[in-house]
Formats: sequence, structure tokens, C-alpha cells
Amino acid sequence: MDARAVADLRRLMEYEAARTAPPRDFPALPDLPGGRYTDPRFAALEKEQLWRRSWLLAGHLDELQRPGSFKLWDMAGQPIFLVHARSGEINAFYNTCSHRGAPVVTEATGRRARFTCKYHGWVYDDEGRLQSIRDAADFADLDFSCRSLRRVRCERHGKLVFVNFDEDAVPLAEWLGVIADEFAEFRFDATRLVDHHVWDLDCNWKIAMEANMEVYHVPNIHPTTVAVGLDHRRNVNSFYPHGHGRMIAPGWESAPPASNYRAAPVGGTARPEIAGVGEIGHTCTQSYNLFPNWVSPLGPTGYFVLNFWPNGIDKSKLEVWWFGPDWGEGPRPAYWADTITYLNSVLREDTEFGGWIQRSQESYGFKGVPLSYQEARIYHWHQAADALIGPERIPPELRVAPVIGADWIMPNDPRLDALAARAAA
Ligand code: FES
Ligand SMILES: [Fe+2]
Repeated sequence: MDARAVADLRRLMEYEAARTAPPRDFPALPDLPGGRYTDPRFAALEKEQLWRRSWLLAGHLDELQRPGSFKLWDMAGQPIFLVHARSGEINAFYNTCSHRGAPVVTEATGRRARFTCKYHGWVYDDEGRLQSIRDAADFADLDFSCRSLRRVRCERHGKLVFVNFDEDAVPLAEWLGVIADEFAEFRFDATRLVDHHVWDLDCNWKIAMEANMEVYHVPNIHPTTVAVGLDHRRNVNSFYPHGHGRMIAPGWESAPPASNYRAAPVGGTARPEIAGVGEIGHTCTQSYNLFPNWVSPLGPTGYFVLNFWPNGIDKSKLEVWWFGPDWGEGPRPAYWADTITYLNSVLREDTEFGGWIQRSQESYGFKGVPLSYQEARIYHWHQAADALIGPERIPPELRVAPVIGADWIMPNDPRLDALAARAAA
């Protein structure tokens, strides 16, 4: 982040702390229809349109280090596998044999040069090309070139591997837009996979995710953890194209930022840092939500990415990826265990309440969600979801109105215009 962006953010933090109402130009947010969390019709639209047409984090190069390394992946309800091909690329294929649809891969991970279907032994290479079949003479005119495994779009940001089931989707770099530039200092191309685990949750996936898209809940749900290091009144939300968003919240003047647990020295020595992380990354919680299901508070000594996945309408999965600076040979440094335990305690504060929210939202008493200006990234997400799904496909009573206009989407920011006008007056 350059000096100008940092200065703008510092001014915006004071603007947010000083305001006594939402910014004058900020639209009033209509209630989100409650059925967006509970109605099977909306869940079906998410499945058919949203999950099918978004870039989704499916893997990391550290899981697929050598040619032939593969990984089965089914978080989005479509069994696929990723393979590090001899070409050097990561390829993604539907795990569906071109013969009678059996899986070609049945192990979670492994390494091999060719993939042989267990059912009748058709063999594919790492480009998905059909190489050989048993009893070929029994097939009349089987054209191998038409019987490759079906590819899934697969592109990388650094070592992160994303997939998209939509053949016509915009490229990943375009989907990320300027966020890819803001990510640069956190070095997704260099940080190492430290830990990766998945939690089962008893709530709709959006209930779980939205707890990580606002800081309004922090004083209530995290009074002794996150709240201690996060000045929520100075939080600055920003909206990006495609439904992405960012929050930047400083620590209290009297205390280090919420990310301080990551910077705590180990045995008297400072933790290694990711070279290049800027001032905001060092002093604030700098967190991104990438549409549709990613939240990542990034920091200088390492960071985590949360991915939220539906598991039916009232259950979900929370996938936690930890990344840190390279530690050279041997096992990861011992301090990571404490760091991960700490985060898990914070996540438990959010996720345990999610099950309660689910039950209450299923009641006749739940009609809709009035969102505050502080929670507007959630509205922006829903607005982008409808744009992607296609408003005409959504029953009118489940739609949201696109009230947050382009004037609020980065790089536009009416708050900065207001500050400039104030300074000029
Ligand atoms: S289904 Fe794969 S070889 Fe028959
Ligand atoms: Fe939380």
C-alpha cells in the first residue's frame, strides 16, 4: 500500500470515529429477506449459479509440490481433482471417468504419473488425455481425443490454486482486480502452508461467514479476545467490484492491534516476518472478504484464510488455512501451535453462537435483517450475489435491491470526497 493510500486510511479512521450518523451519501439499506438464509429456493439458486460461477480456493502449491502430486477436492459439491502436471501447471478435472462416470481418483492425495479408473481400467495422463483402454477392439470407432477427462478452469494467485466451474468466467486476475495488488505485500507467492483444517458447523454457511464481515459483534462476542486489540469505532470498510470487501481497523491507542498475538516474541526473539508488509498491515487488522466465501485478516508474521462452504441449508464447513514465512528445513516452528490454538478459541466464540442463530432464524419469528452502516459489507455481498445469480431468477420476495451504487465501489469513495470538501471549505 503506498503512502497516499495509508494517509487516506488514517484520515478515514478519524472520519469514522467522529461521525454521529452514517455518511450523508450512504444509501439506506433495505432489510435482507430472511429467506435468503432459510429458503430452499435460495439455497438452490446459490448452488446452481453462485457456486458454479465464482472463483473458489481449492488448494495450495505446497500440497502439490512435485509433478504427479494430486489432490481430490469436493468442498463445492462437485468432485474434482487437482494435479501438478509435468508441464508445470496445476490442472483440474472432474473426477468423472469418460466411460461410465466412475471416479478416477479415490485417495485424498497422492502422486502418480497416470490415472487409472478402478472400474474398467481406462488410463488418463496428467493433461486428462485418454491414453489406453482395455479390450479396445470391443469398442467400435472409439475416438480417444473426444474422451478426455473434462477440465475445470484452474488459475493461480501466487501459490493459491483457484477453480471455477464456469468456462466463461472472467480470469482470476480480473476477478481479484486491485485486491491482487494489495495482496502483493503479503506474498501469497512465497508464504508456506502452515496448517489446514476443516470444522463442521451447525448453521447456514452465510451465518458463519457474515460473523467475519463486520466488527459490530466484536464487543459482545469477543470481549476478552478480539475486542482487546481492535478499535471498532475506527474501522474503515471499503467495497470492491464483484462483491469483495475490505476492513481496516487499528488497535486501540493504548494497546497493540488485534493481530498482536501473531507478533508476540517467542522465547525473547521476534517472530520472523514476511518481508514487505506495510505500515497498515503492522498496525491494523487488515481483512479482506473475497466473494463468495473467503475472509482473510492478513498480518506480517503470518495469517489465515477462512473459507465457508454450505453443507446443506442448515449446516456448513469452515475451512481454515494458515500461511507463514518460510522456516527452512524441518517441522514448523513451535509457536504456531499456540497461535492456532488462540485463533481456534476466537473462532469457537463465533461458531458456537452460529448454531443458536440457526435455530432462531428457522422460527416463524425471523423475517428479515436490518443492517447498519457498520455491517454494509454484508449488504454489498448480497447485492453482488443477486447480480451473479441473475435477479430475474430470484423470487421477488427473496431479492435485494442494488442500492449501493458504483459511487461507493473502489476506487470511488464519497467519504474521501467529503473530507476533501471539508478541507477546502
Ligand atoms: S467407468 Fe471408468 S473405466 Fe469404466
Ligand atoms: Fe467474530
